[in-house]
Amino acid sequence: MINDKVKEILNEQINKEFYSAYLYLSMGAYLSDVGLYGFSKWMEIQAREEIDHGMILFNYILKRKAKVELKSLGGPELSFNGVEDIFNKAYEHERSITSAIDCIAGLTENECDLATRNFIDWYLKEQIEEEDNVLRIISKIKAFGSDKASLYLLDKELGNREYSQSDYE
Ligand code: FEO
Repeated sequence: MINDKVKEILNEQINKEFYSAYLYLSMGAYLSDVGLYGFSKWMEIQAREEIDHGMILFNYILKRKAKVELKSLGGPELSFNGVEDIFNKAYEHERSITSAIDCIAGLTENECDLATRNFIDWYLKEQIEEEDNVLRIISKIKAFGSDKASLYLLDKELGNREYSQSDYE
């Protein structure tokens, strides 16, 4: 069993992960609209991973015999100012998710809920990857994005991303 404070913060995190999916789908729609189909595919796969992140929390709460309380999702931003703006915003968003995960780790320690503290380690590591992946793309956009031929190749590279289900176990 997990206590109410831990249950509440985990339910909030489900919402944040599903909102992340919504945000990345919105970014993907914009990117598709401007013909950057590879970037768009990258975002679509990112959105699917975010749903996985939400579902891992969902299943954990159920396994601990606590109540899943799904909250309403706000609408994500719909208009953007080019591909660099999008990835800068994605990076800011991931940083906010990292802070949220850090807070979960802190709360579970304060509540002496070491099982959940252990569970959340997976997310702490995942956030290092999430931030790094976006930062690498930003670096490439900064280095090559102003040249159309290079942007085309970068779009192709990102379009090669394959979805693989995030697996906690
Ligand atoms: Fe689930 Fe991108 O953090």
